[in-house]
Amino acid sequence: MTELASVGPQHQGPLPLLLLHGFPLDASMWDDVVEVLGLQGVPTLAVDSPGFGQSEVPDGEPSLDLAADAVVATLEELGIDRVVVAGLSMGGYIALALAERYPERVAGIALLDTKATADTDAARANRLRIAQEALGEAGADAVAPMLTALLGATTLAEDPEVVEELRGRLAAAPPAGIAWGQRAMAGRPDRLAVLEHLTVPGLVLRGEEDEISTAADAEAMLTALRAGGGSAELAVVPAAGHMTANEDPVETATALADFWERCTAPSGATD
Ligand code: MLT
Repeated sequence: MTELASVGPQHQGPLPLLLLHGFPLDASMWDDVVEVLGLQGVPTLAVDSPGFGQSEVPDGEPSLDLAADAVVATLEELGIDRVVVAGLSMGGYIALALAERYPERVAGIALLDTKATADTDAARANRLRIAQEALGEAGADAVAPMLTALLGATTLAEDPEVVEELRGRLAAAPPAGIAWGQRAMAGRPDRLAVLEHLTVPGLVLRGEEDEISTAADAEAMLTALRAGGGSAELAVVPAAGHMTANEDPVETATALADFWERCTAPSGATD
């Protein structure tokens, strides 16, 4: 977990920003964003999801509900009641589980390069195959083919540093975390209705070249958020794919900082 400003024992200051990473990465995928975030004095927490970074694979059936419970356990340890949560891809799925299970903890939700729908049968079967491969001889090689899908065409063609960094991260992904994460994502339900019941501000952000989370996925989340009556905005990051936080950390950080301001503005001061 990255902790940038002191919190606890019972946090009273500015609303913290909680960052949830994508699969099969860890909290450090947010480092470049955090560096340029510019939210002075705002506690910014990036937590490792179960099986990644410093976080152990939990006992029991893999489930993103458990991942959301683990986030809340961390918030409790830090004395934090409410957060503005931002989740990228798998982190977005966990943010949705958090919003469903602990709506009182969520002061705003930013959904980056993600979707609120469940997997198709084919996608679920593919996840279970990758989980099995990861636990076998392939290990982290099971996720190596994700590289070209995760990055946008522009990054792949023009930014070898980002490409190589992500290649290295995929190669270093822990096999047990890969398997746990794929099985947990395979079992996630459709959570569009969760967004329809939220009344807090929302941000839907996607890389223009993202082919994993599509424009239609983003539109569905926006529509659901607006149905709930909260203000919801769309941000599209040009020349980026699924990994906006790594492909364009400045644009992503700017959108998150603006969103945090929107979540914490006195009622009626924005929109
Ligand atoms: C991610 O970036 O977290 C993954 O692409 C999520 C997924 O496999 O659905």
